Amino acid sequence: MNRDYRFPDRFLWGAATSAYQIEGSPLADGAGPSIWERFSRTPGRIANGDTGDIATDHYHRFSADVDLMHELGLTSYRFSIAWGRILPEGTGRVNAAGLAFYDRLVDDLLAKNIAPMVTLYHWDLPAALDDRGGWLNRDIANWFAEYAQVAFRSLGDRVPRWVTLNEPWVVMDGGYLHGGLAPGHRNAYEAPNVTHNLLRAHGAAVRAYRAEGKHEIGLVVNLEPKYPASHSPEDEAATQRADAYMNRQYLDPIFRGEYPDELREIFGSAWPEFPASDWPLIQAPIDFLGINYYSRSVTQCAPNEWPVRAARVRQPQHAHTEMDWEVFPAALTRVLLWIKERYGDRPMYITENGAAFYDPPHAIDGRIEDPLRVWYLREHLRAAHDAIRQGVDLRGYFAWSLLDNFEWSHGYAKRFGIVHVNFNTLERTPKSSARFYSEVIRSHGAALAGA
Ligand code: BGC
Repeated sequence: MNRDYRFPDRFLWGAATSAYQIEGSPLADGAGPSIWERFSRTPGRIANGDTGDIATDHYHRFSADVDLMHELGLTSYRFSIAWGRILPEGTGRVNAAGLAFYDRLVDDLLAKNIAPMVTLYHWDLPAALDDRGGWLNRDIANWFAEYAQVAFRSLGDRVPRWVTLNEPWVVMDGGYLHGGLAPGHRNAYEAPNVTHNLLRAHGAAVRAYRAEGKHEIGLVVNLEPKYPASHSPEDEAATQRADAYMNRQYLDPIFRGEYPDELREIFGSAWPEFPASDWPLIQAPIDFLGINYYSRSVTQCAPNEWPVRAARVRQPQHAHTEMDWEVFPAALTRVLLWIKERYGDRPMYITENGAAFYDPPHAIDGRIEDPLRVWYLREHLRAAHDAIRQGVDLRGYFAWSLLDNFEWSHGYAKRFGIVHVNFNTLERTPKSSARFYSEVIRSHGAALAGA
């Protein structure tokens, strides 16, 4: 059946990246080190001992990368600012050279009619702030608002959309509970405090924006719909816990002014009482919500899985990516509808969606064919269109990622780019997925029909 997949006229077609994953030269021009600078130098933390020292060298090649975005027809680009480039100690002294880099990037984007969406925090906390307790210190709400204000004042006239935090759940779970990401702690008493301070910092940046910003500010969360593996009461309860932990932990506080009850059950005596006076800050109204969607999880009760007591059941009948994430596009439609139902009708963007699949290390005859990624993008864009047809106010889609990059603890071993990067020569080659996405953009989605 050939459906009409045209998207609304003003729909944004974008791609996303983050600073530490692509920029390289993390200490150039007076930048202060981040927790990722430290973490990637800690033996055993990153596959193959990789670091972000060079990454894709976007710091020096940004202009050519913007030309590439223009050739692909992107109408928006989501990137993050490295906090330590503009405030090397995290607070106080502003580093003009660091600001100048983002200034030039924004101007280049605008010159090509590509609307910047800027993320303030994509996991690279200044190391100097980690030394003061990082996300465990309640003062971080003020530190973050101070940094946000510097960014708003220098770029705010030209940036129509701001994101406070990228995926607070990952900051807490990966950084402080399970420890696979920087700063690598593993502590159930820290995790709830980190969550609470992330929410307060988010609210403080939103307030700072309201004082002087003219455009839009929102938050990006990663959501993974949970499906019970069976109808047993144990599996159903485990699914609820997993859902509260991952999908409601940040949205319930912001939109409903409370934490899900299940968090107290999960953390037990490690769950603290937070001051009631924090809630107005956390609930500061936002203009849009960004959703990062990669996969779903079929969930069963697993008493030994600390602390949520739930585990994913692999679904061998479905394709999986190189990250071993199940490909399940229908859950993207479902999650967008769920937000509308639970939190109300609000503007949304898919701020990340994409897949790591095996790609050859270098181009063959100038081409990289990645049929699985083409298929992944097509099916997820169709699922996004389904949500719009069912009334979701979805305003844009950002493929993750523009470029193959430093995939955190996996180093350069997992390729998510629609543009291939040869990590020996740093040469860029648009993959067939980039060419396909370009066609989709040029046809406003019509190219999603057929096949
Ligand atoms: C993050 C990206 C990451 C991607 C793939 C998201 O959680 O925002 O930084 O590269 O997932 O793992």
